[in-house]
Amino acid sequence: MKKTLLMALCVALLLMVCVSAQAATATATGTGVTVIKAADWAETYPDVYASYEKNAENEAVFDHVEEYPMIATVYEGMAFNKFYNSARGHYYTVQDVTNTGRPHALANCFTCKTPDFTAKVNNEGVSAYTIKFEDMLAEVNESVSCYNCHANTGNELVVTHTYLADAMGDELAGLNAETASCAQCHVEYYFAPETKAVTLPYDSLAAMHPDSIYALFEEMNFADYTNPRTGVAQIKVQHPEFETYMGAGSVHAAQFSCADCHMEKATNEAGETYTSHYWQSPLASESIKASCAACHPDLEGFVKGIQAKAEERTIAIGTKLEELTNKLADAVAAGKYSEEELNAIRALNRKGQFYWDFVFVENSEGAHNSRLTNECLDKAEQLIDEALAKLV
Ligand code: HEC
Ligand code: HEC
Ligand code: HEC
Ligand code: HEC
Repeated sequence: MKKTLLMALCVALLLMVCVSAQAATATATGTGVTVIKAADWAETYPDVYASYEKNAENEAVFDHVEEYPMIATVYEGMAFNKFYNSARGHYYTVQDVTNTGRPHALANCFTCKTPDFTAKVNNEGVSAYTIKFEDMLAEVNESVSCYNCHANTGNELVVTHTYLADAMGDELAGLNAETASCAQCHVEYYFAPETKAVTLPYDSLAAMHPDSIYALFEEMNFADYTNPRTGVAQIKVQHPEFETYMGAGSVHAAQFSCADCHMEKATNEAGETYTSHYWQSPLASESIKASCAACHPDLEGFVKGIQAKAEERTIAIGTKLEELTNKLADAVAAGKYSEEELNAIRALNRKGQFYWDFVFVENSEGAHNSRLTNECLDKAEQLIDEALAKLV
């Protein structure tokens, strides 16, 4: 009885937290835009600019391969398996992409790193994606900055990464602009096989579900790389924060935008409020935590609990995936299985790795949507177990 009452209260409160949502709009293209740099807004918006500059403090780097040894095997066949640094956030994206230790052929790698490339695509169209990486580097002035989210308006939210608008179609106008501004980069994408243009693997919010994304990749016969020892054509998923947070099962998708949890409202010395552009975890913000406290008196403990469970499963299933990769590689080398038998196992491995990766590379470790996270992990585990059973 008490529990039902509490839930009803929570739902009522949730409905009250109605953010006055601004709708997302896309930028015009082919207009010969040049990028107004962050520093050029410093005088007009001193508080926002100072908070943006604070992102420079965020410079710790971790080597994921050291932390998650299974990825040396799971990602074998693509350069991620040798050196996979955690990135340091918006301020260092250009340095980080230049120093990955992985080879870059094309400028398309700059898509989520610098407004200079975003403007280049908007001016020149998809041909910009195949410019040589080094040639584009010479034209890059800064990392993620004002233009990416505001075009040159300085304060209105504008979608400048047009592949998001292409994927959302008519639904873009119904999308909260703050969430759309983040979805320009915090998404799963692929390079279109012919043009190498960044493309999102869906054409509506409903088709963002990992089941639909996988179905599309199957239909396209798409692979990012092939594991040299097993011959499995694998898909490398990339940071699907938008898909996960907006996906079925998300508790807060209708109430909170990405910015509500990651960009706190701050007050300057004159008592005026502004939006902090220091992007951080909600757990690091006293004011955000206070705004959640009515329902989450211990937000940190609550979130850490969800993350610990997700992390434990991700590591356990990743370790099984490593085992599968090694056993399948042995089976291929031993030549005891027919090509048909091997292909059946490869298919399970490909799909299991996709669902596992969808969770592994999502940056909230289960906090954005623990239901979807568990659903993906369940699927991955079942597929990997099925493949392992065929190898005994
Ligand atoms: C132009 C591309 C781009 C846009 C737009 C963007 N991000 Fe990011 N963001 C990145 C990249 C690249 C990283 C590096 C981290 C990674 O890949 O894991 C990052 C990292 C982050 C981090 C982690 C910072 C850290 O401490 O490591 C947070 C939090 C974040 N973004 C929040 C947001 C939010 C909220 C929005 C929307 C208001 C947003 N981002 C929009 C590209 C972008
Ligand atoms: C209801 C609050 C909430 C909303 C809305 C939300 N997030 Fe998060 N996000 C979290 C929490 C909680 C974490 C885990 C933070 C931690 O581990 O300290 C997180 C983690 C992240 C991280 C990793 C941060 C880091 O420091 O490594 C990124 C990037 C991120 N979110 C992006 C987004 C994007 C993009 C959206 C919108 C599509 C979004 N978030 C919406 C609560 C939220
Ligand atoms: C990753 C996306 C992103 C980037 C990059 C970004 N902004 Fe914002 N900006 C936002 C969001 C989200 C809001 C909140 C919008 C709202 O509440 O209406 C915002 C709000 C603002 C506002 C409105 C006033 C306020 O305080 O809410 C101004 C002015 C602004 N930004 C200026 C800038 C400037 C200048 C830069 C570059 C130094 C910049 N922004 C970079 C996403 C971004
Ligand atoms: C009106 C009540 C209410 C408010 C306010 C609220 N939440 Fe929640 N939140 C909930 C409920 C209810 C759940 C679901 C709990 C469960 O599944 O056990 C939840 C779940 C979550 C989850 C886990 C999501 C998942 O998929 O497991 C996160 C993270 C979260 N909230 C963050 C926040 C943050 C950050 C804020 C403040 C910006 C906030 N919440 C404000 C009621 C609220």
